Amino acid sequence: MARSDALLRMEGITKAFGGVPALRGVDFDLRPGEVHALMGENGAGKSTLMKVLAGVHQPDAGTIRLDGEAVTITSPRRATDLGVAIIHQELNTVPDLTVAENLALGAEPRTRFGSLDRRRVLDDASTKLERIRASVDPRLPMRRLSVGQQQMVEIARALAEDARILVLDEPTAALSSSEARQLFALIDEMRASGIGLVYISHRMEEVWELADRVTVFRDGRSVGTSLRAELSPEQVVNRMIGRDVEDLYVRTDHAPGEVVLSVEGLTDGAGIGPVDLELRAGEVVGMVGLVGAGRTEIARMIFGADPARGGSVTLDGRRLDGRSPSSSVRDGIGLLPESRKEQALFPAMSVRDNIVASTLDRLTRLGVLRNRAAADVARTQMDALSVRSTSAAQEVQHLSGGNQQKVVLGRWLAVGPRVLILDEPTRGVDIGAKQEIYRIINEQAGAGTAVLVVSSDLPEALGISDRVLVVRGGRIVADLDRSEATEEAVMLHATGVAATKDGGTQG
Ligand SMILES: Nc1ncnc2c1ncn2[C@@H]1O[C@H](COP(=O)(O)OP(=O)(O)O)[C@@H](O)[C@H]1O
Ligand SMILES: [Mg+2]
Repeated sequence: MARSDALLRMEGITKAFGGVPALRGVDFDLRPGEVHALMGENGAGKSTLMKVLAGVHQPDAGTIRLDGEAVTITSPRRATDLGVAIIHQELNTVPDLTVAENLALGAEPRTRFGSLDRRRVLDDASTKLERIRASVDPRLPMRRLSVGQQQMVEIARALAEDARILVLDEPTAALSSSEARQLFALIDEMRASGIGLVYISHRMEEVWELADRVTVFRDGRSVGTSLRAELSPEQVVNRMIGRDVEDLYVRTDHAPGEVVLSVEGLTDGAGIGPVDLELRAGEVVGMVGLVGAGRTEIARMIFGADPARGGSVTLDGRRLDGRSPSSSVRDGIGLLPESRKEQALFPAMSVRDNIVASTLDRLTRLGVLRNRAAADVARTQMDALSVRSTSAAQEVQHLSGGNQQKVVLGRWLAVGPRVLILDEPTRGVDIGAKQEIYRIINEQAGAGTAVLVVSSDLPEALGISDRVLVVRGGRIVADLDRSEATEEAVMLHATGVAATKDGGTQG
């Protein structure tokens, strides 16, 4: 029997994509006038559950009840009719139409001559926007709005359609802090009016401020729902990762060996450099700094992806000239770029072909790929990295972010690199995959590879590195040993405070 206090009750929801389960029998419920936070690492299944609710995906099994009545939500239109609205992670408006036109979509008012009633389109839009006190000009094209304003338009549309259930999927990811404040005030009002809200977010402070209840997903399962007042943030994190946080970073002490890579005076002639750095065999070096400090640019220049206008790169005592990504690969320098989707993956190719992409010379005889050898290389890396896919033939676009990242890593490890440069290797991957990536980094260092890790996640950089380089204004402004590299020390250098204090500190 469905309890009468639930507005929504989802039971045993199961959903797989191409045979890979995204939801494995999930229960979830929502009460009127509550904010129910849905948390969990990337890939845990949060968006998928909400897309099932919104009629975007059909579940493979399970039931959905609204006010105790079982319903089938066959389309987004049907969801709207049932009073379910979702503000997707990727916004859902038409950029070239005006705000007013977007708000009228699907129910355009007509004049008595049958043409679009522009006056009413505009008036209706103003009413809908005023209702949520959104300061947006309804005559502007949608694409001129900030993300926060676009979101407000979507919320205005949802409320105009009498939504009783509103899902916000990571709504603050791209908002300014004042936009976020405005959103929170609106959420409070909607809650007070009896709307049930599902709030998906990674941000603990927000959840703590807003949520009445918290449900945590891990690996397509719900690992528990609790009143927020009865939870601690540590408990939430432990539920998300399924183990204690302290064990997250994997690092063993390695005695650093001889200098493998030495960079001197490297510069692009514009804002980046001159950069000097040395990487030793078996050491993990973190490269940190504020957004825009030039970390990625330095990494790309070392790899030869971007041209240098001066300076030198020396590998094992040999100065490298005429550098390019392909010469780097031959020399045993690997780069895992920041955006794996755009720069590193062949999405429509198989896991196997992605892994062997940099080893083709070795695996080809008389121009023909030796299939057995390629399959062996792929299998070895898939096992070593615990890549989760249905088979080596599966297209990488169907893997989770973490598994895609492991495939790109596997490609470099198949080469057996001397130097591995990893640019944000764990961005956008779930915590389980993060830990595996840390394990792989640690193993590589243990095997004598020099590893340079660019990371915006400071606890991560400090947790896995033997040494930390701080970048500011395109230069390395501090080289901190593990023992000196505290978050505070790093931030002092990254922000330039250390340089202005008492005549400048040497990094
Ligand atoms: N349209 C889709 N096709 C294939 N796989 C998908 C699709 N949508 C989600 N997935 C997969 O389902 C899993 C859960 O994803 P998602 O629900 O987006 O997670 P979350 O929102 O918690 O980050 C991931 O492994 C993801 O790659
Ligand atoms: Mg999501």
